[in-house]
Amino acid sequence: MKRVLSGMRPSGKLHLGHYHGVLENWLKLQKEHECFFFVADWHALTTEYNDPSTIQDNIKEMVIDWLSVGINPERSTIFLQSAIKEHAELHLLLSMITPLSWLERNPTYKEQVEEVKDKDLHTYGFLGYPVLQTADIIIYKANMVPVGIDQAPHLELSREITRRFNFLYGDTFPEPQTLLTETPKLLGTDGRKMSKSYNNAIFLSDPPDVIEKKILHMMTDPARQRRTDKGNPDLCPVYFLHKIYSTPETIAWVGQGCTTAGIGCIECKKSLIPSIIKMLEPIQKKRAELVKNPDVVDQVLSKGNEKAKKIAQETMAWVRKTLKL
Ligand code: TRP
Ligand code: SF4
Repeated sequence: MKRVLSGMRPSGKLHLGHYHGVLENWLKLQKEHECFFFVADWHALTTEYNDPSTIQDNIKEMVIDWLSVGINPERSTIFLQSAIKEHAELHLLLSMITPLSWLERNPTYKEQVEEVKDKDLHTYGFLGYPVLQTADIIIYKANMVPVGIDQAPHLELSREITRRFNFLYGDTFPEPQTLLTETPKLLGTDGRKMSKSYNNAIFLSDPPDVIEKKILHMMTDPARQRRTDKGNPDLCPVYFLHKIYSTPETIAWVGQGCTTAGIGCIECKKSLIPSIIKMLEPIQKKRAELVKNPDVVDQVLSKGNEKAKKIAQETMAWVRKTLKL
């Protein structure tokens, strides 16, 4: 059986974009493979080092969301990166063999250092982000790593670092394969990519009245200024959500009604609201139970940590021996 591993930085409550972009894929993978899913809290610190105050809450909220959507701790190993100190040791050893030029030419790194203006990312830790990520992966000898396209350059680096390790010290680690998650970016309420930082996200934990308000405030096709203006649904984020959550009949009704000005935007939005609320209902029910029993999250993590630690310790025993340490 192939081993699958993936991680997520703890950014707090997850939204529909995470659900369709990542979690649906994890749910599918956990049925077919041995899966390891972990909270990358050290990776969060590579960019949020100046404010660690929210990290504990964010870890908790994120794991609650994982469990609420059906990531199953009986099937998958759910753990916390910083609980397995062996990742840090392997990261250190990998840093000895990783040429600086590989890290400096990493497009994701260059882009972020340029674009992110509100934090100083000229740090050793941020440059070494993919080295730590490589340690996360190979310490479990993972075969497949499901990630979005934005993470593909990191994975390529992980493969290069793994090859270099194997070349220097003998074949030890499988080269991790990238399992590209092919989901179109989910659009947020303003038509841009759904993201917490754009303030345009619908969260898995949003109660029905909040969902209603967010949908009613959504941007629409700017060409439809008046009720009598005809619209183009393909330019409208409301239609984008209809295509995911509504029945084929409703989608057809929207398509027809929008292009002929047969329906109004309010009417169109109102027909979308119940389907999103309904889709989230079972998730939120489970979430409410977990919030009532917060110990469950701690138990899941400590059980997962234990399982992960055992494997990580075995790998590191071998690595130390190989490196004569
Ligand atoms: N960098 C990943 C992200 O931001 C998180 C991550 C850390 C990860 N280590 C990993 C993903 C190992 C896959 C495998 O989404
Ligand atoms: Fe968008 Fe619906 Fe209005 Fe058309 S009718 S512009 S699809 S909200």
